[in-house]
Amino acid sequence: MSTIDSVLKETRLFPPSDDFRRRALVPSLDAYHALCEQADDHYLSFWGDLAREQISWKKPFSRVLDDSNAPFFKWFDDGLLNVSYNCLDRHLAQHGNKLAIIFEADDGAVTRVTYAELHRRVCQFANGLKAQGIKRGDRVVVYMPMSIEAVVAMQACARIGAIHSVVFGGFSAKSVQERIQDAGAVAVITANEGLRGGKSVPLKAVIDEALGLGGCESIQRVVVFQRTNGGASDWQEGRDIWWHKLTEGQPEQCEPEWMNAEDPLFILYTSGSTGKPKGIQHSTAGYLLGAINSFRMVFDYKPNDVFWCTADVGWITGHSYVCYGPLGNAATQVIFEGVPTYPDAHRFWQMIEKHKVTIFYTAPTAIRSLIKLGADFPNQHDLSSLRLLGTVGEPINPEAWIWYHEVVGKGRCPIVDTWWQTETGSVMIAPLPGAVATKPGSCTLPLPGVIADIVDESGAPVEPGKGGMLVIKKPFPSLVRTIWGDPERFKKTYFPEEFNGKYYLAGDSANRDEHGYFWIMGRIDDVLNVSGHRLGTMEIESALVANPLVAEAAVVGKPHEIKGEAVVAFVVLKGQRPTGEDAKKIADQLKSWVAHEIGKIAQPDDIRFGDNLPKTRSGKIMRRLLRAIARGEEITQDTSTLENPAILTQLQEGIR
Ligand code: WTA
Repeated sequence: MSTIDSVLKETRLFPPSDDFRRRALVPSLDAYHALCEQADDHYLSFWGDLAREQISWKKPFSRVLDDSNAPFFKWFDDGLLNVSYNCLDRHLAQHGNKLAIIFEADDGAVTRVTYAELHRRVCQFANGLKAQGIKRGDRVVVYMPMSIEAVVAMQACARIGAIHSVVFGGFSAKSVQERIQDAGAVAVITANEGLRGGKSVPLKAVIDEALGLGGCESIQRVVVFQRTNGGASDWQEGRDIWWHKLTEGQPEQCEPEWMNAEDPLFILYTSGSTGKPKGIQHSTAGYLLGAINSFRMVFDYKPNDVFWCTADVGWITGHSYVCYGPLGNAATQVIFEGVPTYPDAHRFWQMIEKHKVTIFYTAPTAIRSLIKLGADFPNQHDLSSLRLLGTVGEPINPEAWIWYHEVVGKGRCPIVDTWWQTETGSVMIAPLPGAVATKPGSCTLPLPGVIADIVDESGAPVEPGKGGMLVIKKPFPSLVRTIWGDPERFKKTYFPEEFNGKYYLAGDSANRDEHGYFWIMGRIDDVLNVSGHRLGTMEIESALVANPLVAEAAVVGKPHEIKGEAVVAFVVLKGQRPTGEDAKKIADQLKSWVAHEIGKIAQPDDIRFGDNLPKTRSGKIMRRLLRAIARGEEITQDTSTLENPAILTQLQEGIR
């Protein structure tokens, strides 16, 4: 409840400047409301018209929505199209010589690629994949560094109708193995190594380890992009093939595979309430429409913009606002291989200046880490090319918002705080920057055609200022279609019985203020948000108990100044509870263990040992209590139902 109280104290309002408004696609609140009304009154023709305007179809669709098998909705069902055609071919006549990608490598080297060149590279790579026997419907795991090639790999899959499953390069071998198995992938596309912050990142070695863990017999090919001179020692002839060999001599044209609107475009795994990540399955046409339309509306896209989204292609943001949204709109974008602080904290600002970036889209965690380093860094650069700023992935605290607005945007640039999820595929709630005045910390109002609300357990809307569950009340084109291989889990998780299976349950709590603005409060399930990345507490717990020393583990989050949330683990060992130096040593061991099992992003900041965990007499772990302990708060809750109250003092003492 303290979150609700504090955010509602924020009353500052930042309307767009007249200058911004005049040039905007949606130039006033009235115009925004008119669009919303049009969408509400003629929901299907609103989306149908957009789909006809913004997508080039091989064969037009005859029906907008088929909801006869809800919640397995079908959009534009009998239409035929290809996503890569929509992102490349259709721009060539007018924009063939326009820059598609300005790639800046870790060491500062810049590569520029036009639409014509990108098209050529995608076609050659697509032909190469086909020559290796990879075909329509096959699943392909992409485990790549940020690069032009990562985009080429994804676009080439889309071109031949293969379903990509991008796995973030920070995930461990075991995580990769699980994802390969779940999807039954036939190939992996990777690089020998990545380069970030001056250090090499082993990618091929992780893939070798993953495939060595067993159960990945479906994999026939590992395609390796050569980024550095190292990292390819364990080469398996017959399975492994260099990217440059694969494309050698391949034709520069490749007829796109014409896909049904509802064919899966990709799977992207994300964390939920269980130990097993969910394969979020997106469609071809509905997803593409979401990416293209939201990019245009939310970023108020103009043809001469230089757009820069700092998200990795391993996350949904990198799918929708690196690979598909910008290319679908024939935009010019910056892609960056490295990190914001290498070689020093000038990097982001230097790049904005150098490439004359007009729209900058990043995560609050990145902003917070740069704030700590001081305004001197941005202040030494000419940031006057910027006209719009954006944030994504987690709530932004008002202090960080104001810094972003004043120091980076010089008070001139609207900030679009965009709320959405892997499951929604594209931005759902965000200010249309020429129309909606912003408030620091609020993602403001839903996009036209997105029917969002906040409801209580019975599905009834809550009053302004009251917290509740965020739902979307009507299906929309870019919504997740199913969980790969688990339609029952899809139904249960996202369209629960409590709401008669009618509302999409986002899994976030939120409230609305007197202007109808949305304020996101956090997850209602056991999912943490660490540096804008979703992590399931159950996943980390299963990783911990897989360690031979561990008997039991419970994981909770605690607030963290930069990461938003940090992971705290309470652990019971099989032997005696360690103390002093021993405890430190085992804690460090367990931290590396989690990094190795899942990835460094899931590593606990803090591990505490107890003889036991606080449980009710029926054996349920009292997580609320653990959260209070992790935050160092005084325990005010009733602990009389606790099996072993003495355990609390022990866990509190464990605070280091
Ligand atoms: C959180 C990232 C507050 C939220 C695109 C959501 C946000 C989860 C915001 C999805 C925002 C995302 N304000 N919270 N603007 N954007 N979230 O799937 O809890 O990685 O459910 O998608 O991030 O994370 P995901």
